[in-house]
Amino acid sequence: MAFLGFGKKTPDKTGEEKQPLVIDGRLRHIAFIMDGNGRWAKRRGMIRSLGHAEGMKAFERLMDHCSDLGIEHVTVYAFSTENWKRPKQEVDALMNLLSSYVEREIREFGKHRSAYHFIGDKAGLPASLRERAEVLERMSADQPETLNIALNYGSHAEIVHAANELLREGVSEITEKALEGKLYTAHSPAPDLLIRTGGEYRLSNYLLWQLAYTELYFTDILWPDLSNDELDDIIREFYGRHRTYGGVTGEK
Ligand code: IPE
Ligand code: IPE
Ligand code: MG
Repeated sequence: MAFLGFGKKTPDKTGEEKQPLVIDGRLRHIAFIMDGNGRWAKRRGMIRSLGHAEGMKAFERLMDHCSDLGIEHVTVYAFSTENWKRPKQEVDALMNLLSSYVEREIREFGKHRSAYHFIGDKAGLPASLRERAEVLERMSADQPETLNIALNYGSHAEIVHAANELLREGVSEITEKALEGKLYTAHSPAPDLLIRTGGEYRLSNYLLWQLAYTELYFTDILWPDLSNDELDDIIREFYGRHRTYGGVTGEK
């Protein structure tokens, strides 16, 4: 299990001294599966939607932290193509939260350094959310960092969409490079690190192509509880790993 990280107690709580975190080219892109909002609420006797509201706060805090650390690309899983199966009340609450977030980012434009990309099938989103998300994408296109927000996203659908785009262009053969160029994430390098909170050890139809050689980290911490310090510890653990991409394992 050398390349699977599992959440451990964080040394900061023991008062241990830590090296300052310096991000370099080995960590350009972090992908998150923001899972556990529902259970966070349930444990407090609250309705699931309140867990999503708390999850939104954690998302905004952690995105600011990633930006402060100097992470160039972040991708978050906000709503999957399968999440439509949830009760209407919960889906509506999620769409409302996302709409409010988009409005806030438009209103406060300049506060963040991100170029926003809403990745997924936008056609399936409520029209008002889709239109405002596209406004935010256009406004922020020249920003130096990238924030990909996977919304009505499914990896199978993405790969089929990419292949169909190539067919429409009339290619006679599909190459890996050409297909990659049609993925929703074509503007970002592959994630170096995937972090899934919430204690489930699966990918749930997320970035299946892009994660081929990504380092995986799973933690039982529920998304709203993931602190900035805990993220720093996960990043430190990532820097202790040795990536071989199928090559020979050398000395660290
Ligand atoms: C993840 O939290 C957020 C979304 C799917 C939008 P969940 O809502 O899946 O939380 P749990 O897994 O039920 O605790
Ligand atoms: C994955 O979480 C989707 C998002 C975080 C948006 P889910 O809670 O929907 O995944 P499963 O159902 O546990 O696989
Ligand atoms: Mg879940």
